Amino acid sequence: MDEIAFKSDTVLSDVHLHAPNQRHLMVRLSGVGQPVFLSQFKLLWNQASQTDSGAEGGNHRAHPAEEEDDVLGDEAQESSPYDVIKIEHTMATPLEDVGKQVWRGALLLADYILSQRDLFRGRTVLELGAGTGLASILAATVAQTVYCTDVGADLLAMCQRNIALNSHLTATGGGVIKVKELDWLKDDLCTDPEVPFSWSEEDISDLYGHTTILLAAEVFYDDDLTDALFKTLCRLAHKLKNASTAILSVEKRLNFTLRHLDVTCEAYDHFRSCLRRLEGLTGGRLRFAVEPVDVSFPQLLVYERIQQLELWKVFVEPVTEPVVSADTAS
Ligand SMILES: C[S@@+](CC[C@H](N)C(=O)[O-])C[C@H]1O[C@@H](n2cnc3c(N)ncnc32)[C@H](O)[C@@H]1O
Repeated sequence: MDEIAFKSDTVLSDVHLHAPNQRHLMVRLSGVGQPVFLSQFKLLWNQASQTDSGAEGGNHRAHPAEEEDDVLGDEAQESSPYDVIKIEHTMATPLEDVGKQVWRGALLLADYILSQRDLFRGRTVLELGAGTGLASILAATVAQTVYCTDVGADLLAMCQRNIALNSHLTATGGGVIKVKELDWLKDDLCTDPEVPFSWSEEDISDLYGHTTILLAAEVFYDDDLTDALFKTLCRLAHKLKNASTAILSVEKRLNFTLRHLDVTCEAYDHFRSCLRRLEGLTGGRLRFAVEPVDVSFPQLLVYERIQQLELWKVFVEPVTEPVVSADTAS
């Protein structure tokens, strides 16, 4: 079980790579026979506010990584259930199963959510490419409804189990998480009741009627998928009744390529070019404004907040027609 066979298309998230082996507990085989591990990610609420720790825990320690090096596991088992988020995940996977691992960008996004709880309070939130569901679960500690979406029945089932494992965290804030299939490569949401994780008409109407925040972590690693994600964002923004904000995390991955004989970050560059294209869209009824987010907010989860981790906001607002006075119009 400790031997992980690496094939050429196998990827392993740094989050799991840097965590010592014995702290992972293999709990079962997934629906497609992959070993599933259970990791406990500590939530470093301010020790001073232990009395109200948990989902509504208050102040935050500034540099947990310096104070805590037991990131996942043994000690966490002795903590209050409100001080850990339990996530089932696989280890090394082929590229098409990357969502079954936890990625650093999800932890950055989770930290942002925890540091901006008032922004999420009472909101309807849609996460795209949610993977194991970690960010959605933390959003639901304050949001009213979180639509946690991805593709693939096995991944969505794993996500659903993670939500059940952490139901005590979301119970306090009363947030509901709905796991749904949302494929960026398809124009429509699946409403076939025979298909697992399909949408009901009520869910779709709630999604379009109330969503104001969209989230996506670490979904910019393949240019075709990045294009599909931006198309999906645009399509959804046009269907939403209200103005919305998309919050996107990305890790700028540097690679040496033989083609360039240099270190490049092509997937990141493509992501940035999609942001520029979105901002440059004119003539429609929506305006898209893009802004980088300062990532110096407190760190409540333990991971390496490396320089290459970025968070971006896309504000989507209706274009307001200039008011034409009667004098000008005539
Ligand atoms: C690198 S993982 C990130 C997962 C999670 N957000 C995280 O950061 O831990 C990329 C995610 O995008 C999802 N994805 C890939 N293609 C997709 C598609 N066509 N529609 C929806 N999600 C897709 C994958 O299933 C996976 O969960």
